[in-house]
Amino acid sequence: MSRILLCGVVAALSALLLVGCQRTPATVSYAKDVAPILEKRCKSCHSPGQPGYVASGFDLQGYESLMKGTRYGAVVLPGDPLTSTLVMLIEGRADPSLKMPHGTEAPLSAAEIGTIRHWVEQGAKNN
Ligand code: HEC
Repeated sequence: MSRILLCGVVAALSALLLVGCQRTPATVSYAKDVAPILEKRCKSCHSPGQPGYVASGFDLQGYESLMKGTRYGAVVLPGDPLTSTLVMLIEGRADPSLKMPHGTEAPLSAAEIGTIRHWVEQGAKNN
């Protein structure tokens, strides 16, 4: 009896473990997850007339302008967070003078950075 019970517990635990291991990261939404972060932490400087936009041409009004990037080109490369300039800057992988948010602003939280990184990894879709 107790042996059967033990087997049942082991089977249930293994099933749980399997489910846990196979779970893929949830799909990140541009509209629901990414845009609110950019709006809150980046847009004040990256809108026409504001310092970030004036210096770089990078406009965070919407998805199209985000994907267009700076006047030198794209800063989001779909599927490639490692070489996407935007991810490099928020992760602090660039020159400290180019840390974003710029200047004395606090960096994004680890969770916010993870959200943006996963969204780029998943193809930077307008979803
Ligand atoms: C306080 C104002 C300010 C905030 C907030 C800000 N930026 Fe910037 N951003 C700037 C300025 C100024 C530049 C130009 C820097 C330079 O070229 O020296 C810039 C440049 C950039 C560039 C272009 C870098 C390049 O390749 O030349 C990117 C990409 C960028 N910002 C992304 C972001 C993101 C993403 C956020 C939010 C997490 C953000 N910025 C928040 C002011 C800001």
